Amino acid sequence: MTETSTRPRVLSGMQPSGESLHLGNYLGALVNWVKSQDDYEALFFIPDMHAITVPQDPAELRERTRKTAAQYIAGGIDVHKSTLFVQSHVPEHAQLAWVLNCITGFGEASRMTQFKDKTAKGGAESASVGLFTYPMLMAADILLYRPHGVPVGDDQRQHVELSRDLAKRFNHRFGETFVIPEAFIPAEGARIYDLQNPTSKMSKSASGPGGLINLMDDPKITAKRIKSAVTDAETVIAHDRESKPGVTNLLEILSTLTGKPVDVLVAEYDGKMYGHLKVDVADAVVSRLEPIRARTLELLADPAELDRLLAHGAAKARAIAAGTLADVYDKVGFLPPLGPVD
Ligand code: TRP
Repeated sequence: MTETSTRPRVLSGMQPSGESLHLGNYLGALVNWVKSQDDYEALFFIPDMHAITVPQDPAELRERTRKTAAQYIAGGIDVHKSTLFVQSHVPEHAQLAWVLNCITGFGEASRMTQFKDKTAKGGAESASVGLFTYPMLMAADILLYRPHGVPVGDDQRQHVELSRDLAKRFNHRFGETFVIPEAFIPAEGARIYDLQNPTSKMSKSASGPGGLINLMDDPKITAKRIKSAVTDAETVIAHDRESKPGVTNLLEILSTLTGKPVDVLVAEYDGKMYGHLKVDVADAVVSRLEPIRARTLELLADPAELDRLLAHGAAKARAIAAGTLADVYDKVGFLPPLGPVD
């Protein structure tokens, strides 16, 4: 069904950076992916090749890849509607990345802010070349599938921009090949902040674990963290990102989960205390995440079945990716490969 679809195509991925997705990954990305499945022909993948741009423990990486896949499915990715796969299962990603590396300027790659940020502490000297070429692999991930849209967080905007530049450059040099993809960046409300440090985005690498809500945490821990969230010295429940970032974050989490606009919530909490808001946020978060956690554990209990679903996704992805790569190889002047020779 996906191959013959006339719906516009979207593609996205999220790095399996931890043991669990967090609420920011879920509300900021996964929920939007799930919604997009009806209107778009959607492809979602786990970028395990991007993960090894920094050192990984092999057993842990394998585990995380499965856990991430299970959480995507438990969170609502329908493997019959959409294509869900693991990046390393589709060798065309690495193959196209090489070609794109060869049309990217060294200076151009050096201007990518993520590499600069990630090497700001340790220095570029100790970073891998893989980390440097990360954006070209990401461009390959995208361009192989000729998607119209790439739903990503604001932090990935520059990477999508590079993908567009490389697509245009290739098309110009070698003839029409790639679709120029657009970044679909969610509105501000979808951004979730750290509970202890509500001016920074919720992230694995942020402050301590107290600021983080993980999909796979025990619901009791989740409720406790929300109840200990940093607010401010006042008592008024109001939406103000500048002066009340903690309360604002809680309101936005609740609004995203309940579908109620923030101003409606603010009116409902008129005269109530922070404690009331926290209890309601904790209830809303736990009741949403608990079934996802349970379903994830169920999926992980049968890794062979999970691997089978991923193999099916990889086959669907390859059917698209192989066509694009063959076109690219031909256009750059590679000899056609022979079939089996006897
Ligand atoms: N760089 C993205 C992240 O860190 C993950 C990613 C890799 C991606 N390739 C992609 C996202 C292609 C969208 C499209 O989350």
